[in-house]
Amino acid sequence: MSGLSRGAPDKVTIKVRGDGRLLGESNQEVEYQEAKAREIEEAGAQAGRPDNAALFERARQVLPGGVNSPVRAMRQVGLDPVFIESAEGGEVIDRDGRRYLDWVGSWGPMILGHTNPQVLEAIREAAARGTSFGAATEAEVELGEEVVSRMPSVEMIRMTSSGTEAAMTAARLARASTDREVLIKFAGAYHGHSDGLLAEAGSGVATHGIPSGPGIPAAQAAGTVVVDWNDRDAINRALADHDVAAVFAEPVAANMGIVPPEEGYLQFLREATGKAGALLVFDEVITGFRVARGGAQELFGVKPDLTVMGKIIGGGLPAAAVGGPRELMNNLAPAGEVYQAGTLSGNPLAVAAGLATLRQLDATAYDRLATLTDRLVSGLDDLAREHNLEVASAPGLVTLFFSARPVRNFSDAMATDRERHAAFYRAMLERGIWLPPSQFEAWFVSLAHDEIAIDRTLMAAAEALAATDPNRVIG
Ligand SMILES: Cc1ncc(COP(=O)(O)O)c(C=O)c1O
Repeated sequence: MSGLSRGAPDKVTIKVRGDGRLLGESNQEVEYQEAKAREIEEAGAQAGRPDNAALFERARQVLPGGVNSPVRAMRQVGLDPVFIESAEGGEVIDRDGRRYLDWVGSWGPMILGHTNPQVLEAIREAAARGTSFGAATEAEVELGEEVVSRMPSVEMIRMTSSGTEAAMTAARLARASTDREVLIKFAGAYHGHSDGLLAEAGSGVATHGIPSGPGIPAAQAAGTVVVDWNDRDAINRALADHDVAAVFAEPVAANMGIVPPEEGYLQFLREATGKAGALLVFDEVITGFRVARGGAQELFGVKPDLTVMGKIIGGGLPAAAVGGPRELMNNLAPAGEVYQAGTLSGNPLAVAAGLATLRQLDATAYDRLATLTDRLVSGLDDLAREHNLEVASAPGLVTLFFSARPVRNFSDAMATDRERHAAFYRAMLERGIWLPPSQFEAWFVSLAHDEIAIDRTLMAAAEALAATDPNRVIG
């Protein structure tokens, strides 16, 4: 892959370099950059460094599919995974030194961008004091207090190392405190890869078209009822037909692409679960500390019973948490009898990174994130109109759906044109724009992005759409 664009074949004439910067009208610079990229590659090969393809081959020998998490594979967009060497601000840099504007942000945690100086300093300071004690620390209490001060429904938290574990813990707590077993989840939502929550999941499960059954005991699968997002009748029926312990919801669905709740839907979920004696669990692993200071529960003014948090809470290191009112949370051991534990839970480095991240996320930061998101959405909206596509968004989150009609649930998301998305993805990557390699994911806006980064992305998108739109009229 050259990493460079040649300009669109028809009316769009903007030329953009591999790193996304404008080239003006000159093709000489494109050629110069291409030659330089070839030189770097050849120098690497001479130094005995495997190129991307050779490294992927090695990776496949020791890592299933060559990756440690399926969403990193780029198979669904027709590519081998690009190996990343480093990152800085709003960019990731591959092993050949190509810089890409990064709209993945490690799938959410990097809301401040990469290598944020305060976060790095906090990690350094914590590491110098020891990387893990397996004992209580003051910083964990500070992080708990910070989260409680933000999330309207949370009085206590229990930390875990991943969102998957936090969601599992929420399920166990909900079952124990209601003395019921059935969980309701939404088709296309993702709550991690635990047995009971993987049914009809979005994210990598949907991207790779993988059935959620293999390896999951039938009894576990039977304990989960799946309903359509934004559907009220389906929830009412499921709550009437089963003794439901909890309804799990991403308050803004983000793992089938961004699908916001329809007007009043979260309030409806709150009332319906309350009447049925079921708990409402908001999985705010993506929305938490992103769509507002206190997550989607603040943005929409709806308080869940339990909240699952992840990503930003660890500032780019492995940390997650489940939170809720004292009455529920004190059921967890050792205060109560619901067992949950973790060797690295509340790890000092992760806690330091999380605290240093959250402390920078003040009102000014959220205003800025909203301004940046609006600029990106408004530019994409213009392009979407031109190419008959749909844009969905929430503060800090955007999806360009290759669909002519709005997406309100998983079936609509599944009906999008995945081939066209893949062609667009490849065209964007060539133009130095790093997007999630799946139609069923969000673009993550960070505070390290600026207006220039957004405009570079929009210019690249204009070219990429013009070059890949099957209905384009040339001339
Ligand atoms: C909404 C949601 N919940 C849970 C998870 C699982 O988190 P983790 O990957 O940390 O296990 C994710 C991961 O992307 C997620 O998006």
